Amino acid sequence: MIALDRVSKFYPDGTAALDAVSLEVPRGSVFGVIGRSGAGKSTLLRLINGLERPSAGEVRVDGIALAQADARALRRLRRRVGMIFQSFGLLAHRTVAANVALPLELAGVARDERAARVAALLARVGLSERADAYPARLSGGQRQRVGIARALATAPDILLCDEATSALDPETTRAVLALLGELNRELGLTIVLITHEMEVVRAVCDRVAVLDRGRLVESGAVDTVFADARLAATLALLGDAA
Ligand SMILES: Nc1ncnc2c1ncn2[C@@H]1O[C@H](COP(=O)(O)OP(=O)(O)O)[C@@H](O)[C@H]1O
Ligand SMILES: [Mg+2]
Repeated sequence: MIALDRVSKFYPDGTAALDAVSLEVPRGSVFGVIGRSGAGKSTLLRLINGLERPSAGEVRVDGIALAQADARALRRLRRRVGMIFQSFGLLAHRTVAANVALPLELAGVARDERAARVAALLARVGLSERADAYPARLSGGQRQRVGIARALATAPDILLCDEATSALDPETTRAVLALLGELNRELGLTIVLITHEMEVVRAVCDRVAVLDRGRLVESGAVDTVFADARLAATLALLGDAA
């Protein structure tokens, strides 16, 4: 569904953030990308959602090369991709419901339909009771649930998660990962999950790629990678050591 074909990214200051990375994310998978801080993980996500362009190589979604897509195709593609972040990115002066409604407002969805969809999204993430609360009154786990509901507002089929649980305690992390697993199974959502924590990969991913200083050093099925002592050591070294 998502394919990177020898993708490199050089920033104008000469930093090589990614170096000839090739990988394929199958539809319906939970695909983990693990690596230390600075490995190029966030750059990889920005290439997938079209916020950055590769310096070389090609990024394709459903066979469409992003670099060749016209503005309209790119907009359509972006609507299919939701994103959540470590810092949640909620607007402090908007209630939970109004935060989730924002992408629908931007997409021009009418008020009544918006309200119905927001209610369904909040129910989906278990936050119906907090619809009128402001983000400051929520726990970290609840804030990330709002982030997830907002990311799902335009009914994307791909969800990109950039260190989405890195600000959460272990118990809350498990709950948020369980929710992502549910969304994957029940909505068929394809998830690309960036992390520096091996436990996150173990908990929810079916495939994993290991990035080190912009290079792809391993990739494969999580079961295979964890069963292989050498690969597991690579993961531990390049993830948790961050
Ligand atoms: N906009 C940018 N301009 C210049 N260098 C950048 C920019 N964004 C990231 N980098 C550099 O690219 C490398 C990879 O960054 P990033 O993709 O954020 O890694 P990660 O998310 O794995 O921590 C780092 O060396 C970082 O400093
Ligand atoms: Mg990052």
